[in-house]
Amino acid sequence: MARSYLMCPPTYFRVDYEINDWMHQNDPVDIAKARVQWESVRDIYLKLGHSVLFIEPHEAVPDLIFTANAGLILDGKVLLSNFKYEERQPETAINREWFENHSYSKVKVTENVWEGEGDCLVANGWIFAGYGFRSDKASHTEVAKFFDREVISLKLVDPRFYHLDTCFCPLDARTIMYFPSAFDDASRKKIKDSGLMLIEAEESEAAAFGLNAVSDGHNVIMSSQAPALAGDLRKRGYNPIMVDISEFKKSGGGVKCITLELRT
Ligand code: ARG
Repeated sequence: MARSYLMCPPTYFRVDYEINDWMHQNDPVDIAKARVQWESVRDIYLKLGHSVLFIEPHEAVPDLIFTANAGLILDGKVLLSNFKYEERQPETAINREWFENHSYSKVKVTENVWEGEGDCLVANGWIFAGYGFRSDKASHTEVAKFFDREVISLKLVDPRFYHLDTCFCPLDARTIMYFPSAFDDASRKKIKDSGLMLIEAEESEAAAFGLNAVSDGHNVIMSSQAPALAGDLRKRGYNPIMVDISEFKKSGGGVKCITLELRT
């Protein structure tokens, strides 16, 4: 089924500040390379028949490129992020304007700190929600109420995996791939008890942003630095499509981070 995604061109993409363990101001982004990597992700979506919409970049907010953090769009409703760090807070007004101009009527910003699809992913009708580094646990109640869905709260414990989408990825309604050590014991148990099919990534490939992937249920667009995981997916009937994400990784991101799903 064709999907619709929101992306933001990397025109002003930089590492200007350090708000996660991956960001180092002395390790600058190669902007030409970032542009090529971003375009290759966009072109893969288009070639697969998905539609891609764009939000205009703003020089003052280099992380706007990570559209997954804009919010969560489900059942035609838009819940917008309330960013933890001051550097990203101006993104909310920009995102709100985009959704209001694209005829979404139910648009709301969370009261608690919450970072959208960075920390909330949908599988089997449930919303899996991360906390521990960015989103506040209290935001999960708001998410459940706004969408009238069951939310499964998962605690993140490894700073390399500071957003849920760095260590957990729904592949289809019945299957997820994840890195177990990124979660505390109770959360690992919740994932196991969900009854979903689970695919585990090895540490080096999770740390290469192999799990920061986008699946349309069959095609999985993911980091080229996770060959074992890709092989595993291929064996199970998925079609992994690998891309170089070296420049996004310098900011703590990968394929999923630069992609927001617009669900109707
Ligand atoms: N530099 C950004 C930040 O730290 C990266 C965001 C990555 N996005 C994501 N969905 N995990 O906020």
